[in-house]
Amino acid sequence: MALQTTRTSFTPGEVWPDDQGIHINAHGGGLLCHEGMHYWFGEHKGSGPKGHLAEVGVHVYASRDLYNWKDSGIALQVSLETGHDLESGCVIERPKVIYNRKTRTFIMWFHLELKGKGYDAARTGLAVSDKVAGPYQFVRSVRPNAGVWPVGATEALKHPAASASELAERDAVVAGKYLRRDFPGGQMSRDMTLFVDDDEKAYLLTASENNQTLHLHELTDDYRDFTGRWTRVFAGDSNEAPAVFKKDGKYYMISSDCTGWRPNPARSGVADSIWGPWTALGNPCRGTEKDISTTFESQSTYVLPVPGHPGEFVYMGDRWRPDNASDGRYIWLPIEWEEGKPVLRWYETWDLSQFIPNRLSD
Ligand code: GAL
Repeated sequence: MALQTTRTSFTPGEVWPDDQGIHINAHGGGLLCHEGMHYWFGEHKGSGPKGHLAEVGVHVYASRDLYNWKDSGIALQVSLETGHDLESGCVIERPKVIYNRKTRTFIMWFHLELKGKGYDAARTGLAVSDKVAGPYQFVRSVRPNAGVWPVGATEALKHPAASASELAERDAVVAGKYLRRDFPGGQMSRDMTLFVDDDEKAYLLTASENNQTLHLHELTDDYRDFTGRWTRVFAGDSNEAPAVFKKDGKYYMISSDCTGWRPNPARSGVADSIWGPWTALGNPCRGTEKDISTTFESQSTYVLPVPGHPGEFVYMGDRWRPDNASDGRYIWLPIEWEEGKPVLRWYETWDLSQFIPNRLSD
């Protein structure tokens, strides 16, 4: 196969060949920039409609310039052992990797569904490595914070009044219907992201309560466990695919509605503290009606702080192809700003010179 010529721009939605000329296979991905190299971790999908089942694992690619990616192999392998959490045929989604300075290890968390159980397990999985590209060793999978109430939980949240059973569904969710149900065994964890703050505290932000409420869980100093401090974000608002970034001391989020592999209108939000309160900023997409209602036919997966350009960010989304999962495409677009809100516009082709210093932004 012919090797790729050097790429100098992004072409969202097109086939994106790696150094071997093969379309990059790292869906639901995230980036880690470490010692001048960028590493793109994502779901290795198979072909055909069952291609979303994990039969390989988490794929990793490396790049110096974000345009040209070298296949660096499988960072986390599925297991061939029957009954193993990562048994081939399970679901591994949205892997994200962060670096722990204290232990000098690379920490991967991901969404795990057990083989043959659909999306019922709703667990988060942990794998670690002392080398950035792996191999990562699987540690465990859990539902976070079993037996722990969120920070500041009211008595009404813990023990609802009898009349709470008559609430409409959304009000019942907000009042803690699913949170209480899952209190003993741990809170559900599906679509997820990781965020490391300037003080090196790290957080797992994850779709919980039947995908109706996001949960923010603080990680321990080694990033391998939960501290027990957690909170609810946008309770009852059905956010998936969360991605968090920080600009000028404020925290921003891009997320999606819950429509499976079909795209939907993105949402955005802002907060002065990662703990909230979070304020919804609406749909960040600008363009045609279709662009706005489908997020340019994509669903968010990560927001990349542009290396060397503080305060500039790239939106990374997936254009899913459920009939042939490995053919899913990547929608990377620059984040622009309008009256303090992050916005996305379509570019057929663009490059990092978009982020020249003092570009018109608020
Ligand atoms: C989406 C989710 C994906 C995947 C899919 C399965 O809503 O964002 O990561 O879980 O549902 O249908």
